[in-house]
Amino acid sequence: MCGIVGACAQRSVEELLLNGLQALEYRGYDSAGLTLLAHQTFKTFKETGKVARLAAVLGEGTFAGTTGIAHTRWATHGKPSAVNAHPHHSHDRVAIVHNGIIENYMPLRQRLQQAGYIFVSDTDSEVIAHLIHASLAHTDSLLEAVHTAVAELIGTYGLVAIDRHQADTMVAARSGSPMVIGHGIGENFIASDQMALAALSSQFTYLEEGDIALIQPKSIAIFDDALQPVVRKQVEIDAKVSVQDKAGFRHFMLKEIHEQPHALRQTLRERLDFSNLARAAFGDQAPALLAGVEHVQIVACGTSYHAGLVAQYWLEDMAKISCRVEIASEFRYRNSIVPSNCLFVTISQSGETADTLEALRLAKKIGYQHTLSICNVATSSIVRESSLNYMMHAGTEIGVASTKAFTVQLTGLLLLTGAIAQQHHCHEAWFEQYSQALKQLPQIIENVLNVEQSIADLAEDFSDKQHALFLGRGEQYPIAMEGALKLKEISYIHAEAYAAGELKHGPLALIDNNMPVIVVAPNNELLEKLKSNIQEVQARGGVMYVFADQEVHFDCIDSMKVIRIPHCEPWLAPLVYTIPLQLLSYYVALIKGTDIDQPRNLAKSVTVE
Ligand code: G6P
Repeated sequence: MCGIVGACAQRSVEELLLNGLQALEYRGYDSAGLTLLAHQTFKTFKETGKVARLAAVLGEGTFAGTTGIAHTRWATHGKPSAVNAHPHHSHDRVAIVHNGIIENYMPLRQRLQQAGYIFVSDTDSEVIAHLIHASLAHTDSLLEAVHTAVAELIGTYGLVAIDRHQADTMVAARSGSPMVIGHGIGENFIASDQMALAALSSQFTYLEEGDIALIQPKSIAIFDDALQPVVRKQVEIDAKVSVQDKAGFRHFMLKEIHEQPHALRQTLRERLDFSNLARAAFGDQAPALLAGVEHVQIVACGTSYHAGLVAQYWLEDMAKISCRVEIASEFRYRNSIVPSNCLFVTISQSGETADTLEALRLAKKIGYQHTLSICNVATSSIVRESSLNYMMHAGTEIGVASTKAFTVQLTGLLLLTGAIAQQHHCHEAWFEQYSQALKQLPQIIENVLNVEQSIADLAEDFSDKQHALFLGRGEQYPIAMEGALKLKEISYIHAEAYAAGELKHGPLALIDNNMPVIVVAPNNELLEKLKSNIQEVQARGGVMYVFADQEVHFDCIDSMKVIRIPHCEPWLAPLVYTIPLQLLSYYVALIKGTDIDQPRNLAKSVTVE
């Protein structure tokens, strides 16, 4: 979602704030702004569009602000515009940046208006600036003023405030939206994501729920929601990843697609101890816990949800354990039954997706005793609040459309399947076959990437299309869903996925030669059924693109292109067939000239519900 970065130093902070915003831009990018403070003067710049536009108006950097706050926005309340961009001000005294949603902003706004405050934006965030300003009438302390103001807020926030009268001081607060302090020497920083500060510090302190921090160049003090001093752990993270580095690829998405063999090797590293897979993959507590598990409940959003759907097939088929998968925003707003001995699994690349995090919190409240996260960010809220964690080690993913995180999540879920199967005394012969295949997985994915050129060649066929249909059966149905999601996310072509057996219950009515039908057809026990579904499309004049196992025979016809995919074990096929679908959406988007890494209206990390 939105990104925040703030600094107080003894040097000009403008450039480091801009660099921080650039590192966060993948989270939200419809407008950006920055307020600098020096000599009791604020200087504010705001622009619609990307951070580069903000950088262009900043000009020569003649205003050497030593304290500053900056924000890149993903609009919730109020359209993307310079006026709605953060920082928001009150009476040229207070400036704030905010992530999250203030649910009671309307009554607060009305009350503040009656007290004479004039609102210039349509945002929920502006109330925060005015509330802090109102509190400063009763105290000189910005810390106290922020504390009084946030007590009135209902909703979620990660925020930073500065006061024109208080040089070298920032106050940050967290409730529901992550905030991390970066420790410097004679300068300190704050951000919504450690990545914004990676070039500035390797020492970080994460604020906890309800914390308020007073940050000055040479000191940091953290307080709880009762304004009592608290000590939070300082962690060392040396992750100077250059988020600007596309390693020669044209887009981060393509780079991340190609990084998948490496990411899979990283995630499997030191985890393939088949004498006790549960311990090797999920930690010391896992063997006993997984031995007692009778049911798995998975909750996630977006691409991560699709990974969960695949796992449902695997867990029930291979580990012989019942599994249910639900979208987090649905799970958290209905009354569900808690099965006994159930493992509650969240899947989240970022570990900060608001709906998934809240679903986890709800699960613990309603009686799920065992929680496991499959997550890519060790310091994230979801990891900190889960009892077991599978760290994905996929490396930073910048492209908004998730690629390598998905295949690594699937790998983690395959390990979970094998670990539960082993703890439940599966057949040795099956486990042996499973182990052998898992070892070969990174190499298999590397081989599949060789289809890139043939996919780039056929992308042209899609450039003038408005709609596309993706078909799969069994565990390939969620892969068809993921393929459709990728295509719509980055090429803006409307795409739907269907379980191929459902065609005759509706979607066949849509078939004509203007709607390409993409079929994932690995060599598995459902292949003959799928071939019948292909006939149904063919009989109605549909144009098909079939991704098929190289060992399977298909009669060549004009209206069907068959793209050959290297043979693999059927249960590895979800990972394998994901790769050509990722490449297809990438090359279609490339031809259409869309903003591939930062598609319109989307954000990488959705920290609001
Ligand atoms: C956003 C991203 C998707 C991602 C989803 C869930 O919509 O654009 O790529 O799959 O959030 O994110 P998570 O971090 O929880 O996996």
